[in-house]
Amino acid sequence: MNKALDGKVALVTGGGRGIGAAVALRLAEDGADVALTFQQNQERADDMVDQIKAAGRRAIAIQADSADPAAVVEAVDRAFDGLGRLDILVNNAGSFLLGPIEHLSREQLEETIAVNVRAPFVASQTAVRHMPAGGRIINIGSNMAERAVFPGFSLYAMSKTALIGLTKALGRELGPRKITVNLVNPGPTDTELNPADGPNADTINGFTALGHYAAPADVAAAVVFLAGPDGRYITGATVNVDGGFTI
Ligand SMILES: NC(=O)c1ccc[n+]([C@@H]2O[C@H](COP(=O)([O-])OP(=O)(O)OC[C@H]3O[C@@H](n4cnc5c(N)ncnc54)[C@H](OP(=O)(O)O)[C@@H]3O)[C@@H](O)[C@H]2O)c1
Repeated sequence: MNKALDGKVALVTGGGRGIGAAVALRLAEDGADVALTFQQNQERADDMVDQIKAAGRRAIAIQADSADPAAVVEAVDRAFDGLGRLDILVNNAGSFLLGPIEHLSREQLEETIAVNVRAPFVASQTAVRHMPAGGRIINIGSNMAERAVFPGFSLYAMSKTALIGLTKALGRELGPRKITVNLVNPGPTDTELNPADGPNADTINGFTALGHYAAPADVAAAVVFLAGPDGRYITGATVNVDGGFTI
């Protein structure tokens, strides 16, 4: 049976667990071959590769710290060389450093900007060298870029807000090449970064309209829609998958 992403190749940064893993698996279930990056957790990344192969697709795991721009470039090139083309880039890996502004260090500032802003820019810059017409770039932002309900998010929210500008400007620039660029802003999503049974979960649930966390698969569904043929006329957009957190 033909699938929506048959013949396509995707790269998902931070695809070994959490939202990135759900995205990688959904892309594969819809027919794409998938490369994923991880930072340190080789076992989890290898497990995802096995799951994707079990779904009948090719997969590779690439160790690449998104804080290192040379590693990001190399990861994109390895995905292209290893799987033969590159149609879909999902900039998912993220750094989540919180605290009162006077407690945040210069190192934490550099790390956040490197992983959350510079890496999506560099990965996109490298990917478009390989990407044919019909290509897709999907950035993973955050609801916290839109609504500041808690103190301590200045650095994280600032970094995720940068993705709005990147998404719009790149959407405009790459439109003539029939490459779309979109931003998916998850709300509270049950991962190791933000577990649904964590100490602040009840408070967080109260800020959503639906009253509960998303599953990583809920975010993956939006990403896969944008990546597929039905998403062809959407570009420069922000899609909130946040249970109404930002209403
Ligand atoms: N969960 C939420 O509630 C939520 C809400 C809004 C936005 N988001 C955003 O969604 C994205 C994914 O979050 P998540 O909750 O799925 O996180 P997660 O469960 O902590 O998973 C993070 C993944 O990214 C990888 N990663 C982290 N830092 C990296 C780096 N410097 N270089 C390369 N890979 C790196 C990790 O690799 P290793 O396994 O090797 O460590 C892991 O595969 C992030 O951009 C986050 O900001 C999450």
